[in-house]
Amino acid sequence: MFPSIPKIIASTMLLLAGPATSMSLPTQQAADYSMGFIGCSMSENVAQGYAAIGAKRMWGPYGTGGLVVQSWTDSNSAAWQKFDQQAAKYGKPSAVWVQICIFANPGATYAEVKQLIANARSHSAPNATIYLTGQPQYDAGQYCFLAGQGGAELTDRLAQQAANDTTQNVLYPGTFILHTAEVQDGCHANTAGQQSLGKQAVAFWG
Ligand SMILES: *[C@@H]1O[C@H](CO)[C@@H](O)[C@H](O)[C@H]1NC(C)=O
Ligand SMILES: *[C@@H]1O[C@H](CO)[C@@H](O)[C@H](O)[C@H]1NC(C)=O
Repeated sequence: MFPSIPKIIASTMLLLAGPATSMSLPTQQAADYSMGFIGCSMSENVAQGYAAIGAKRMWGPYGTGGLVVQSWTDSNSAAWQKFDQQAAKYGKPSAVWVQICIFANPGATYAEVKQLIANARSHSAPNATIYLTGQPQYDAGQYCFLAGQGGAELTDRLAQQAANDTTQNVLYPGTFILHTAEVQDGCHANTAGQQSLGKQAVAFWG
């Protein structure tokens, strides 16, 4: 749903009415569900935790399980059709989080990552802000069996590479972390892990 104008005005007034101490230029309040995302089950883990703690800028989970990089390189893929359904529901997003998710084989190349960025732009509102991250990183000695040993690190490096590349105009907000006690199957987050990831996402983009 689009937030109603009265709702936007109401939340603006709430901001204005806040105590003087919290008045130091509040970061621009983004409308509810104005931020999309692409990724896989790991992104759903983030979106689940994000919703569970009451955050609303970003969409909720929408069935992206298994959708690694190669599911998103073709701009007309089934994955992008799912994205477009969300965009039709909430409006084209003004920001998009691209999570680089891989299976150990074939992994991903930087060329593929650049294609994801181009596709994210073409499926979003003009000038949408694009955030890039890798999969969550684990405690020393742990790795996600789906991405393979060193796989999560590769995705994080690719995200940083894109942010360092001035031709791409994307932001790298930081590294998602999943500690051992927050992992349920060697890869995905358990309930505590989802909430931790949700809080990390709020710290990254509100
Ligand atoms: C997009 O950004 C460019 C460059 O900053 C600007 O010239 C253009 O007006 C913006 N377009 C929209 C729709 O905001
Ligand atoms: C990106 O730039 C940062 C800051 O200069 C640097 O620490 C990092 O190693 C770079 N990463 C890649 C993958 O280029």
